[in-house]
Amino acid sequence: MHLYVVYAHPSKHSFTYEVLNYFLKGVKESGNTFEIGDLYEMNFKCELDIGQYTHEMSRTTLMPVPDDVKKEQEKIQRSDAITFIYPVWWSDCPGILKGWFDRVWTNGYAYFYDEKAGRKSFIAPKKALVICTAGHTVEYLEETGIAQSMRCIMLKDRLKNVGFTDVKMEILGGMANNNDFIKRSNLEKAYILGVDFFKN
Ligand SMILES: Cc1cc2nc3c(=O)[nH]c(=O)nc-3n(C[C@H](O)[C@H](O)[C@H](O)COP(=O)(O)O)c2cc1C
Repeated sequence: MHLYVVYAHPSKHSFTYEVLNYFLKGVKESGNTFEIGDLYEMNFKCELDIGQYTHEMSRTTLMPVPDDVKKEQEKIQRSDAITFIYPVWWSDCPGILKGWFDRVWTNGYAYFYDEKAGRKSFIAPKKALVICTAGHTVEYLEETGIAQSMRCIMLKDRLKNVGFTDVKMEILGGMANNNDFIKRSNLEKAYILGVDFFKN
C-alpha cells in the first residue's frame, strides 16, 4: 500500500519533524511505501489567488487547475491513504496547510454536484490519519472543547465532507512541559501509528 504524507512544519529541528520520522520508520517497517509532501520545503503557495477564487466560485468543473495543485492531486490519486502531520498553532493547522486545503480541494476534484446523486468527490483514497503535536496536554484540549473543535473541522469538514470514510486524529500533546517521558511516549505512539497504519 502507498501513503501520501502531507507535512507542515518549517524546522527540521522540531519535535514535529521527529514525529514525522518515527511515523515513517513504522510505515517502512510494515512493508508499505510513502511519499512526503513537505509544504515548507516545496514552498507551497498557500494563498488562493483571484484566478483560482474565480474558478471556485464559478462552479464550473471544466477549467484547468494550476500545475502545483494538479501535482498534489496526482500524488493523492496514486495513494491508498493520506496522513497529515503538523503542529497545533492557535488551535488549528499552520496557515500553509490551511492554504493547501483552500487550493487543492478544488471544485471538480474534491467535490462537485451531480444532479441525481448530489455532492460527490473524485478523491481516490478513503482513509486518512491526522497527527498533530501540541503544547497543551490532550486532557486540557479535551476539557476546553478545543480537541473536539479540531476534530470537527479537520475530520468532519475537511475530510469526511470530501469522501473520506475512515478518518482519525491523534493529538501528541503536553509538549510545552518539556518533559522527556512525555516526549518519548509521544514518539513511541507515532512509531506505532506508522506500523499499524495499514493493518486497521
Ligand atoms: C505560533 C504558535 C502557536 C501555537 N499554538 C498552540 C495552540 O493553540 N495549542 C497548543 O496546544 N500548542 C500551541 N503551540 C505549541 C505547539 O503546538 C508546539 O510547540 C508543537 O506542537 C511542538 O513543537 P515543535 O515546534 O518543536 O514541533 C503553538 C506554537 C506556535 C509556534
